[in-house]
Amino acid sequence: MFRKDFLLQLYIMNQNFYYHETAVLDDGCNVGEGSKIWHFSHLMAGSTIGKNCNIGQNVYVAATAVLGDGVKVQNNVSIYDGVVCKDNVFIGPSVVFTNVINPRAFISRKEEYKETIVEEGASIGANATIVCGNKIGKYAFVGAGSVVTHDVMDFELVAGVPAAHIGWVSKEGYRLEFNRYGIAFCHESKETYTLKGGQVSILQKSDNNDNK
Ligand SMILES: CC(C)(COP(=O)(O)OP(=O)(O)OC[C@H]1O[C@@H](n2cnc3c(N)ncnc32)[C@H](O)[C@@H]1OP(=O)(O)O)[C@@H](O)C(=O)NCCC(=O)NCCS
Repeated sequence: MFRKDFLLQLYIMNQNFYYHETAVLDDGCNVGEGSKIWHFSHLMAGSTIGKNCNIGQNVYVAATAVLGDGVKVQNNVSIYDGVVCKDNVFIGPSVVFTNVINPRAFISRKEEYKETIVEEGASIGANATIVCGNKIGKYAFVGAGSVVTHDVMDFELVAGVPAAHIGWVSKEGYRLEFNRYGIAFCHESKETYTLKGGQVSILQKSDNNDNK
């Protein structure tokens, strides 16, 4: 086991990234340093994968799809044209993206692809479906098996079919319980969050000190 890990590291260092021998990397795909592409995955020419990403087994990345740095894609996910996942996004196993709102086998709608943007640090739970044209906000969380039909706000937790608001989560993915002043704390990071006008943000230390 140690030897296998060691060889993998050596390989990554020499190639800048690792891909399993069964993966198909078309000429012209762009893969960042330190990324790993696992069994049977296919990266189309023009697709872009940032640094230190982990692309699981049986993942398809389309020509215009863009993944930022540190993105994790679990097994059996197709990242279609029009999908953009920013840095540190987590895509759970068998998540389904879409890019045509009203597909017909006998009409080409390639010119009508709708974008799906997944903002920095967001997580999408296993087997969720994201209807195209919607944005998933920063550090938002989509519960397993949900169907997202509307935009999801920054730090929002949604679940169900269709996905509905069930709460808020911190950057670290813990539930935020807001008090009557709209203040909540993340027990892991000790950061303070505010809920104002229906939007959550991290309270910067300077926001907390009006005298300076
Ligand atoms: C969404 C999630 C984070 C919520 O976890 P939680 O904060 O511990 O929430 P709870 O389990 O306390 O559930 C709160 C309520 O939401 C419901 N709920 C939780 N997850 C749900 C989901 N995915 N879909 C629908 N409803 C869900 C619960 O049934 C519960 O409802 P109730 O109050 O009527 O009983 C978690 O359930 C989830 O889906 N995690 C994703 C796991 C995953 O896909 N991992 C992938 C890597 S392996």
